[in-house]
Amino acid sequence: MKLPPHGSNPQHLLKTLNIKAEPNEQIIDFSVNINPLGMPKSLAENWGRMFQLISDYPDPTLEDLTEAISKKEALPKERILIGNGAAQLIFLMAQKLAGKNILLVEPTFSEYRTACEAFNCHVSSYQLAEEDGWKIDADICLKHLEGMHAVFICHPNNPTGVTYNREVLLSIIEHCERKGIFVILDEAFYDFCFENCSLLHISQTYHYLIILRSFTKMFSIAGLRLGFLAGNEKLVQELKVMQPHWSVNALAEAVGRLCLKEDEHVQKTKEFITKERTRVISKLHSLGYVTSSSEVNYYLLRTKEKQDLRPLMLFLIEKGIITRHTENFRGLDGHYLRLTVKQKDANNKLLSSLESWLKKC
Ligand SMILES: Cc1ncc(COP(=O)(O)O)c(C=O)c1O
Repeated sequence: MKLPPHGSNPQHLLKTLNIKAEPNEQIIDFSVNINPLGMPKSLAENWGRMFQLISDYPDPTLEDLTEAISKKEALPKERILIGNGAAQLIFLMAQKLAGKNILLVEPTFSEYRTACEAFNCHVSSYQLAEEDGWKIDADICLKHLEGMHAVFICHPNNPTGVTYNREVLLSIIEHCERKGIFVILDEAFYDFCFENCSLLHISQTYHYLIILRSFTKMFSIAGLRLGFLAGNEKLVQELKVMQPHWSVNALAEAVGRLCLKEDEHVQKTKEFITKERTRVISKLHSLGYVTSSSEVNYYLLRTKEKQDLRPLMLFLIEKGIITRHTENFRGLDGHYLRLTVKQKDANNKLLSSLESWLKKC
């Protein structure tokens, strides 16, 4: 039975598995990797005023939000393209690269492949290995880049949560710049990382480097859809022409401007995630589970024996816990579950359920 291709939406997963949840049953969703602290307070405080915006068309040029991103990130406005979530920008890049040879560094976010295949790209894969800590080896990557027109690199990577060595990334970017290969560096989760791992500030040095950012995870606005891309001016212009008019709604634009002022929320989140992830992972290791060395708000988990984890996923559903299966991640093949870092009580429930599973086996 084919499971839904993404996390989130527990009802969808339960329906696919033909499992009926009791109406009052409390379900904790560990499959969605958004901020466990929720959205910044300022969004609720300004909701009434912002709600009025939906009676009119949004500004198709998104001038105010573009200006705000430009100021905050010290980027020229002409290098910024805002989209209906980073997901839309991934599809626009795939459309621009239609029919070309694309390299994916896997396991990774499944939408790169979906988007590239939708535009008849020839997709190849550089498969990372757990034995290497899920890290990129620059020399191996350069070999895979032969004959390629673009590479998608997710950094920090989804689903492992692993970050790559800056020098390794830079050597790949330099190589691609010389060869005219686009590097699409997806930083959707960079702001959960305690140490700054972003390369946005150096993106202007390169013609072929494109950085993707998302507002939906850190600010817990996945339902609103908002992200942006930073790239060379010519590319931004080309993508703009392909992007449907009014792609970003008026509420999303207003919310985005508030989010950009929320440095405190971001800092508080980073501190919480780092502390709580360390606590949870250390307990998991003491129970005998194996995890990826994540630096963000989700991680991969497997048992020592590396077995098919669908039975564990079903056991956790009985306990009211939804996890992200890995059956559609190349190289993971269902032997891992991806779990998000949630609030302490929820994490404790997960830990005790995982402990019961080991006792049961
Ligand atoms: C790595 C990665 N990039 C991009 C996205 C899409 O982000 P958005 O919600 O901004 O479309 C996701 C969503 O899960 C993701 O995991």
